[in-house]
Order: sequence, then C-alpha cells, then structure tokens
Amino acid sequence: MGSLLHLVSALVLTSAGAWAVRMFNFSVLDSINIPSEGHERCQEIGYDGLAILSSPEAYRHALTVIAPNISSPKTRFSIGLFFKKAVRDFLWADGTKYADDTPWSNPPPDRSGDKTFGRIKGDGKLILSRNNFAAYSICGTYNSKESYGKALSGQQPDGQTSSLDIKHTKSFLQCSVLCGTDIRCRAAEFNFDLSICTTFSSKMYSGFTANNATSTFVREGF
Ligand SMILES: *[C@@H]1O[C@H](CO)[C@@H](O)[C@H](O)[C@H]1NC(C)=O
Ligand SMILES: *[C@@H]1O[C@H](CO)[C@@H](O)[C@H](O)[C@H]1NC(C)=O
Ligand SMILES: *[C@@H]1O[C@H](CO)[C@@H](O)[C@H](O)[C@H]1NC(C)=O
Repeated sequence: MGSLLHLVSALVLTSAGAWAVRMFNFSVLDSINIPSEGHERCQEIGYDGLAILSSPEAYRHALTVIAPNISSPKTRFSIGLFFKKAVRDFLWADGTKYADDTPWSNPPPDRSGDKTFGRIKGDGKLILSRNNFAAYSICGTYNSKESYGKALSGQQPDGQTSSLDIKHTKSFLQCSVLCGTDIRCRAAEFNFDLSICTTFSSKMYSGFTANNATSTFVREGF
C-alpha cells in the first residue's frame, strides 16, 4: 500500500454529543481483590467499574497502564468483561459484545458459564476465570472513546461478505467517526458520489482494491 494518504484521528463522542479528543482514564487498583470486589472498589473510588477494553485503542492504552505491575506473562488483571446468563455469552460492562478479533488466550471463549469474569494477562491475552483468586484490577471510566486509523484514498474493501452498517454521512471524516463509535468496526468505506458510508468488522472483507469513487478509513486492530 504505497501511496496512502495518512490520517490519524482521535475522536470522542462526549455526553453533550459533540466530538472532542479525550484520553482513556484507566488505573490499576492499589489493592488485590477477587473480580467482583475489584469492580466495587473501582466504583467506591469514583470510576464506573472494572475497565472496558472493548476497542483496540482502549486495549492498547490498558497495556501501557498495567506495564509497571506486570512481573510475568501470567500476571492477571480483572477487567469489565462479565458472563451474562441471559445471552449465554460475555459482554463488556457497558453491554456491548466483544469484537471478532478480540485477543483471547484460548479462542473461542468458554461460554459454558463456568467462568464468569474476564481478565487480561501480562502477555496481553484475555482469559476467563471464576470469582475466586485475587489479582490486580484495572478501573476505568466508561465514557471515553478513541479511534486510530489511516485513510486509503481511492480504495475500497475487497471481498465484502456483509456489513455492520450502511448510512448516509456528509463526509469521509463523518464516516470515519461512525467507524470509531462501533467497537467492532475495522474499516469504513465512503462513496463520494453517493455520500454513503459502509462499515465492516475484521471478518467482513479480505483486503483492498482500487475504486476512485471511494476512500476507506482503516482502523488499527488488536
Ligand atoms: C503497581 O505499580 C505501581 C507503580 O510501580 C505501584 O505504585 C503500585 O503499588 C502497584 N500496584 C500494586 C497493587 O501493587
Ligand atoms: C479519572 O477518574 C477518576 C475517578 O473518577 C478521577 O478521580 C480522576 O481525576 C480521573 N482522571 C482524569 C485524568 O480524568
Ligand atoms: C475513475 O475511473 C474511471 C474508470 O476507470 C475513469 O473513467 C474515470 O476517469 C476515473 N475518474 C477519476 C476522477 O479519476
């Protein structure tokens, strides 16, 4: 991909509905707790609970936050990923489903309901556990979003099988923003002639091909 127009965007939907840049607010709890206690302690000190690492950007930020406390690849940190009986699957604490390229230690995740809490290990892989042995906890606030990616000018996703969303947007930037608001989105194609934005998860396309009517925002994955 030689002649790429390089674009980095850091986009956040604030509670007022305006776009602004904001960093994630994560921190490692100063005590060692079982996951349910860690979630409560995070709330007691003003966070929304255990941190949500649903997007690649949040995940990468978490890796930098936990780095000082990692003593081995097996060091564990509780995160805001919980088993929900009603859907027999894991959901992030804000009710969103995990992305299809989530870096599980042992994919696919065990959905038997035997282990009900998610953790991240020192090697960056996500694992599941019971609500037993104590570990570190990563606290987070749930309102920050960021997305990083680059623009492929005159290209479109190739081998499209399906899409997450198809919407009218005013600009390519707005189309990139749409991708940034969906944790599953990895590519967003904007058609300049039609002002149509189509978003894709990692498994819904296979590469890129030339199309001079479109530009594509490609978000970094995990
Ligand atoms: C995590 O690392 C920081 C920085 O070294 C340290 O101050 C903190 O006490 C550690 N947290 C725990 C729970 O040990
Ligand atoms: C992060 O959130 C905590 C808890 O609400 C708050 O005390 C702290 O000031 C926040 N930090 C930043 C940089 O916003
Ligand atoms: C786009 O591609 C078509 C077909 O290859 C070509 O006819 C047209 O001139 C191109 N338009 C631009 C703006 O490059």
